[in-house]
Amino acid sequence: MSNNNEMLLIPKIELGIVIDHIPAGQGPKILDIIFQYEEMKDVPVTLGLNYTSKKLGKKDLIKLQMDYLAPEIIQHISIMVPGVTVKAVKDYKVHSKVVVHPPKEIKNLLECKNPNCITNSEAHIGTLFTAIDDSAKQVKCYYCERIFALDELDVVIP
Ligand code: CTP
Ligand code: ZN
Repeated sequence: MSNNNEMLLIPKIELGIVIDHIPAGQGPKILDIIFQYEEMKDVPVTLGLNYTSKKLGKKDLIKLQMDYLAPEIIQHISIMVPGVTVKAVKDYKVHSKVVVHPPKEIKNLLECKNPNCITNSEAHIGTLFTAIDDSAKQVKCYYCERIFALDELDVVIP
């Protein structure tokens, strides 16, 4: 199939958010994340799987018919599937493109697994983790200083 196969399958949109360059197979994972947020429940979504990509060989992509994707949702996606591109489309044109990587500081998204951590006994204290390496695969709790692999921590949805 040609490199333009995606345009044959999903029409261009007038206004919306395109999550592009998703490694093939990870699109459904991102959809799961998106639909954990109450505000996203009614947003029209198109999922494309296994499209040809110059960069990745194969990629998934998601189009959302909405004009704004909340930063906490982008942060959540960036932690679970680093390196995707979030594109904003307006008047049929790509207005902005941002490649999203896990942030150096992850606020109020992950639960600390240390039962003695203050964030688990004092509800008003939010959680804060800092990346301890560039890949952000390991993070350290700001409060109890314990180190965890990112994928062992549970996500709390507000
Ligand atoms: N797109 C869309 N509607 C538009 C414009 C673009 O749905 N009106 C989608 C395309 O379907 C495609 C993505 O946005 O999935 C491509 O955007 P663009 O950045 O223009 O493409 P490239 O330059 O090929 O992207 P890149 O170099 O970042 O891979
Ligand atoms: Zn802690």
